[in-house]
Amino acid sequence: MASGYVEQMFSLSGRTAVVTGGGGVLCSQMGEALARAGAAVILWDIRQDALDQKVAAIRQAAGPQARVAAVQVNLMEEASIQAAIEKSVALFGPVDVLVNGAGGNRGKSTLQEVKAEDVEFVLKLNLLAGCILPVKHFSRYWIEKKIKAAVVNIASMSSYNPLSGVYAYSAAKAAVMNQTMAQAKELAPYGIRVNAIAPGFLVAEQNRALLLNPDGSLTPRGQAVINHTPFGRFGEAHELMGAVLFLCSEKAAGFVSGITLPVDGGYLAWNI
Ligand SMILES: NC(=O)c1ccc[n+]([C@@H]2O[C@H](COP(=O)([O-])OP(=O)(O)OC[C@H]3O[C@@H](n4cnc5c(N)ncnc54)[C@H](O)[C@@H]3O)[C@@H](O)[C@H]2O)c1
Repeated sequence: MASGYVEQMFSLSGRTAVVTGGGGVLCSQMGEALARAGAAVILWDIRQDALDQKVAAIRQAAGPQARVAAVQVNLMEEASIQAAIEKSVALFGPVDVLVNGAGGNRGKSTLQEVKAEDVEFVLKLNLLAGCILPVKHFSRYWIEKKIKAAVVNIASMSSYNPLSGVYAYSAAKAAVMNQTMAQAKELAPYGIRVNAIAPGFLVAEQNRALLLNPDGSLTPRGQAVINHTPFGRFGEAHELMGAVLFLCSEKAAGFVSGITLPVDGGYLAWNI
């Protein structure tokens, strides 16, 4: 009885999801969660080798019946995004879920030393490629085809308060949270929902060297994060998956749009 109810509430059977950054650490796991919840999943990434590896891993985890595929794309280029949408629709039919996961950072520096080209690259990667451009092209397609889709953008703790030394990344992620509200408002008349997840601190490739020394001990920055996190630890990627499934499910979150859901071990609730 309970499992039937939960199944009805959270099953994504019949849905088809594109997950950008799907060759990466967090988003490949989001792809796996969506596949295990019944969705057909298409990973998008610029790295074909990573895509091949992650598709195989998801098939292994979700079982042979899982419908999983990959499309190589450069999200910095609109023509590439448009072509990837066409290839994705040709694979499994209409796409109605978009997880906008591509993103990342380049280095860490003071304001005095920051390189304009790094700022430009990081803003473009996280805001344009990681959020605005896929929604631009998918929303045209959804509106034309009258598809009621769900979008999940990926924000960050730096969306709320900038993290020292990674100012372009913080500015881009603040803008992702802002865009989530803008996109939600503009697309609501078409039945399209747009939300975001703000992961707390998880150790992944992009931030490993900032948080951990080569021997696995905490860097001063890693220690500062732990001191500021009421749960007293880093998060694990699997702890994001309930939030992803919730936001994608029409039954569970059909009236939820424009929010950014923190999954952060209480980081934002920290006080003295
Ligand atoms: N790891 C964390 O602690 C953390 C915390 C908060 C938010 N995030 C965000 O979560 C998302 C995923 O992070 P991750 O740690 O898994 O990163 P990751 O580096 O493992 O994955 C990002 C993926 O994006 C792909 N990519 C980069 N440029 C691309 C382009 N032009 N076109 C297509 N694909 C491109 C990369 O190849 C990579 O596979 C990012 O938006 C990141 O900012 C991560």
